[in-house]
Amino acid sequence: MRVPIIAGNWKMYKTVGEAVNFVRELAGRVAGVSGVETVVCPPFTALAAVAAELSKQGAGIVSGAQNMYWENEGAYTGEIAPGMLKEVGCRYVILGHSERRRYFGETDAAVNKKVHAALAHDLIPIVCVGERLEERESGTTEDVVRGQVEGALAGLTARQAAGLVVAYEPVWAIGTGRTASATDAQQVNGFIRKLLVDLFGETAAGAVRIQYGGSVKPGNTAELMAQPDIDGALVGGAGLKADSFAGIITNAVGAGSGVGRL
Ligand code: PGA
Repeated sequence: MRVPIIAGNWKMYKTVGEAVNFVRELAGRVAGVSGVETVVCPPFTALAAVAAELSKQGAGIVSGAQNMYWENEGAYTGEIAPGMLKEVGCRYVILGHSERRRYFGETDAAVNKKVHAALAHDLIPIVCVGERLEERESGTTEDVVRGQVEGALAGLTARQAAGLVVAYEPVWAIGTGRTASATDAQQVNGFIRKLLVDLFGETAAGAVRIQYGGSVKPGNTAELMAQPDIDGALVGGAGLKADSFAGIITNAVGAGSGVGRL
């Protein structure tokens, strides 16, 4: 059973006050919607207040962080430890987002350490992969994605892998308004699924939820989610407004055709 998962990556947007108002409004808009898991990923500063508001609202929305460091504690100025995220109510953590790779030099090896650390602390990683425009144009998309998936997930057991969320986000589609077509997105998501079968076996691979991310909006959600290997969305810009994020969540419900999907 793959329950679709819609996650909002807020990036460096929203103060604590704005974040709390947002989740209050969102909870009102999606009350009663079932069959989809909803996650919001605010900046670190708003995590505690968002988790408190979410549990007050009781709408089943959970929170996640956008990054973390892999050590438990120590002299790592500016970093946040996995246990600190657990303490403020996080269930998920986005790892290896292309902006982390591009602006902060994150490598597959670093993402791999973070994935292991997250799992050790009972946080569910949302592992981001995706090719840059020049890589797509030169026909190396699958090689790039294979390298990222193998690198990020090295050393995991099949059981650990089964609980993961992987987000396929073509870099050229992020924040550009240029969504991958549903067919192109499915092609890469399907490729990732096959790769996971090779790495971890059918059962584990069949349990992994593979999101698509990159200019997802209410209007393109249903078509994307109807693809057999697209099990949700990682949403940036359209996740910052309660009405558009709620539109994505409601359009995701029932749109899926994946085997065994709720
Ligand atoms: P976007 O961002 O929806 O604004 O394209 C997606 C992401 O960066 O996760």
